[in-house]
Amino acid sequence: MSDSTVNSAAAELIARIDREVRECIKCDLHKGRKNAVPGDGRINASIMLVGEAPGQEEDVQGRPFVGAAGKLLNQLLKSIGLRREDIYITNIVKCRPPANRPPRVEEVSACSHYLDRQINLIKPKMICPMGNVALKTFLGKDTSISKVHGQPVSTRESRVIFPLYHPAAALYTARLRSVLEDDFGKLIKLAASD
Ligand code: URA
Ligand code: SF4
Repeated sequence: MSDSTVNSAAAELIARIDREVRECIKCDLHKGRKNAVPGDGRINASIMLVGEAPGQEEDVQGRPFVGAAGKLLNQLLKSIGLRREDIYITNIVKCRPPANRPPRVEEVSACSHYLDRQINLIKPKMICPMGNVALKTFLGKDTSISKVHGQPVSTRESRVIFPLYHPAAALYTARLRSVLEDDFGKLIKLAASD
């Protein structure tokens, strides 16, 4: 099969996941949502960013990282020469938790097969969990973003997990902005060295 055939098959399967997510009622988060937020970006992206959960603006638009944290994320991407269309962005849970509380264990587990399928289709070389909720999903509960951000971990699937602070953290704690800028610098060097 040619690359374009493979990509159009993958695009169809990603579109199917998007439809399933938009209609999903597997956990109680569906009750409060305006729109589910499946994810956005390139089907064959080599970098996938994974946030925690949609916020208010994402819930309104049905797209990830379109609010204040998303604006900062766009700036960070631009600073390393990337656009949103070059990567894939999604979240651990696809529906907004009430008042932006962290998603519960049972919500994360009800939603996890969508993320697993997205990863299996997109096959990113690098996955960047952003913030503690995403980090713990990939690297286990005994870790913390303040300890492991900016440090690549190789997985058995020959993938690199590259943890980042959540961009929203830098909106609350100004000094984290330069930490994020440094880590984005490391990310692009690592991606280029592959
Ligand atoms: N915060 C997240 O974790 N995800 C979004 O999509 C927006 C804000
Ligand atoms: Fe379904 Fe995930 Fe939304 Fe829960 S958060 S309703 S599992 S898409």
